[in-house]
Amino acid sequence: MNIPDIIIAIDGYSSTGKSTLAKLIAEQYSFLYLDSGAMYRGVTLYAMENGLIAEDGSIDEVGLKAALNDLDLDFKATEGGSGTFIGDRCVEKEIRTLEVSSHVSPVSAIPFVRNFVDERLHAFGRRKRVVMDGRDIGTTVFPDAEVKIFMTATAEVRAQRRFDEMVSKGQEPVMEEVMKNLLERDYIDSHREVSPLSRADDAYVLDNSDMTLHEETVWFQGLCQGKFGILE
Ligand code: DC
Repeated sequence: MNIPDIIIAIDGYSSTGKSTLAKLIAEQYSFLYLDSGAMYRGVTLYAMENGLIAEDGSIDEVGLKAALNDLDLDFKATEGGSGTFIGDRCVEKEIRTLEVSSHVSPVSAIPFVRNFVDERLHAFGRRKRVVMDGRDIGTTVFPDAEVKIFMTATAEVRAQRRFDEMVSKGQEPVMEEVMKNLLERDYIDSHREVSPLSRADDAYVLDNSDMTLHEETVWFQGLCQGKFGILE
């Protein structure tokens, strides 16, 4: 099946499998996959490494604003595909730790951080044939995206997925902490003032609590066939 040159926006709660589906769509239809959450995670890691986040979690916003002027954050090609880079350093692994996860929502709620990330995301969107996942792609970053998907699943299913993902990366997570972090992020992401997580009116809802990845791709194919009048 051929999909026209469009932007596909995939938003939704944490650990709903947005990136897994987005990567598969990118692979199947030769789209560029972009993980907007990785940008917020990169900013958070950079803030942590520069001592701008205190023990109690408070953020030195004045310091961070100044530090962003020196932050070279980008997606670059790697041996395994592409990854998030700070300068020449691939930080793909460091940005996925629970420590970064526990600070990323407050960091991403800061308006100048959102502007910093949005500028970079818009630059990628100019080329079309992009599938991007995040929290506000269909509502704010690309409100004109031709296909918008809003993903959701029960908190239990999502916490288990995040737990398994961390174990597979060699980490030793505690389920209660993973669940606590997930619920906290849901709350902050949906209640922040700037670009809160919400479903765009024209987004298709995908609840994958009881779906396999294959069923999700069949669902996506059906959506595109209907939307673009593709017959195969
Ligand atoms: O998708 P993720 O869990 O890697 O995202 C990390 C955080 O970044 C998430 O808690 C909220 C924030 N985020 C955002 O505010 N807007 C986006 N478009 C993507 C992520």
